[in-house]
Amino acid sequence: MDAQEMRETYVDFFKGKEHAYISSAPLIPENDPTVLFTTAGMHPLVPYLLGERHPAGTRLVDFQKCVRTGDIDEVGDASHLTFFEMLGNWSLGDYFKKESIAWSYEFLTDVLGMDPNQLAVTAFEGEGDIPRDEETASIWRSHGMRDDQIYFYGKEDNWWGPAGQTGPCGPDTEIFYDDGRPKCGPDCGPSCHCGKFTEIWNNVFMQYFKDADGKFTPLKQMNVDTGMGLERILRILNGKETVYDTPLFTGIIGKLEQISGRTYGTDVEDTKAFRIVADHLRAATFILGDGVTPSKMGQGYILRRLIRRASRYMSKLGIEDACMQSISEVVISEYSKAYPELERNREFILTNISGEEEKFRKTLTKGLRRFNEMLSENGDRKVLDGEMVFRLYDTFGFPVELTQELAAEQGLEVDIEDFNNRFRTHQENSRAGADQQFKGGLADHAVETTKLHTATHLLNAALRKFVSPDIQQKGSNITAERLRFDFNLDRKCTPEELKAIEEFVNEAIRAEIPVVCEEMPYEEAMARGAIGVFTDKYGEMVKVYTIGDISCELCGGPHVSNTSELQGFKIKKEESSAAGVRRIKAVVGKFD
Ligand code: SER
Repeated sequence: MDAQEMRETYVDFFKGKEHAYISSAPLIPENDPTVLFTTAGMHPLVPYLLGERHPAGTRLVDFQKCVRTGDIDEVGDASHLTFFEMLGNWSLGDYFKKESIAWSYEFLTDVLGMDPNQLAVTAFEGEGDIPRDEETASIWRSHGMRDDQIYFYGKEDNWWGPAGQTGPCGPDTEIFYDDGRPKCGPDCGPSCHCGKFTEIWNNVFMQYFKDADGKFTPLKQMNVDTGMGLERILRILNGKETVYDTPLFTGIIGKLEQISGRTYGTDVEDTKAFRIVADHLRAATFILGDGVTPSKMGQGYILRRLIRRASRYMSKLGIEDACMQSISEVVISEYSKAYPELERNREFILTNISGEEEKFRKTLTKGLRRFNEMLSENGDRKVLDGEMVFRLYDTFGFPVELTQELAAEQGLEVDIEDFNNRFRTHQENSRAGADQQFKGGLADHAVETTKLHTATHLLNAALRKFVSPDIQQKGSNITAERLRFDFNLDRKCTPEELKAIEEFVNEAIRAEIPVVCEEMPYEEAMARGAIGVFTDKYGEMVKVYTIGDISCELCGGPHVSNTSELQGFKIKKEESSAAGVRRIKAVVGKFD
């Protein structure tokens, strides 16, 4: 089965169970400052799992593009990926365990034709105040699963979430494929890593909220959040050894074979390099497709790291010429049916990927030479000091992780603390700062971010009124402290314009205007002249937020219910973000 067939089969099956199809959200969480990328299908749905009404209803199905960078160094083995797709279905306070399990079972056995004897499932064993999930086990039994196919595990294995430090979470039941080989020992089961079991689907019964103190309270509604890895299910259905052997990678790896003149799967080191390049360039193409450019921090830094690491492994494959564009072109042509934004942003993707590739190629050879000199300067010491590592970063553009990897190949470590200190002093907005974002919690700071979200709509309207009616949002990022809004303009805003914008927004706040949310078909929202960045929503129900006659914008929310809640608005900075794109940072609150 190929990837598009699988996506469509999944969506159609759940449409048949009255689920509404929603399109994949961008990889960059629009209003969640706590993570850099969308890491799971449930991630863009957090407000709805917490009780916000979703315009498409209470049963949803989708395939969501995701990026997880925690295991980037593991990529190259048989299973790790930075970019992956998750097929998911959701109940937002609608059905629960019984239906969820019944449909998963029906889909795997009836639709995909899997043998029930090759399935194994898990249930939550119970821990603390939360009881053992006998209900889940008995539902599985009712479908014919034998006791020796049902395993109980504790929180370590059978609890999912929250995605950050706080947020919705709950016990889950995981469905595994059992390849039939003998158990590796008496304790062998789905949580064993011997390779007998492969997790294919995770059904989370999301019924708790974990707060910042680590306390669990019941959510307003009982939800189901399921996620099935597209790469893994395709591997199993196609009887392949690794995710890289699935149709998802055939075109990409084929192109790399053609360029390098080498054959995938013949040499161990080459195979690892093929996989790293294929994974990283697929991820980079998708990240670029959502408008990120390579940079020194945040998502841009991860993008840079992916491209530069890919570049190093391409040279290991003996590839002499710049050719990332041609790999990206394969990704664009093979994935655009499912993700039309790739085709729409083709020029942007290709220009940026080759720009970054050229930039790094100029310094890669020199940097590697310098690295080898450093090795001899370092003598017998097992640690490379931060000064050397910082020089590689600053002069040759080596992401510190790349140097760490090069050092590890020589049995050396990098003095990362020393490097970080130098880095911090050198650059106020260090990557260390961006890393902190991973550690925050979803739904934290919810009140402040909600206010800033409404302020963003007012700012957008004010820009269109005072600067140009052609202004469009090019990016938005909200933390608990400030909003950041990027928009198209090829010049600085004048001080007069900024003053007028600030006054206009403050006037709207003083006027105590209600913020009204309505749900309607996408076409109707467009006919009303709503503005918004969602372009793939044809035929879907959407939410439209209206603020008096000032603003009418397509948006998932949430927002404050009255502009007065913002108290006041202040622009902190106006600067350039990229060619033809300006950036405004602003805050809300009471100012004297
Ligand atoms: N949130 C769960 C996961 O990521 C199920 O979708 O596995």
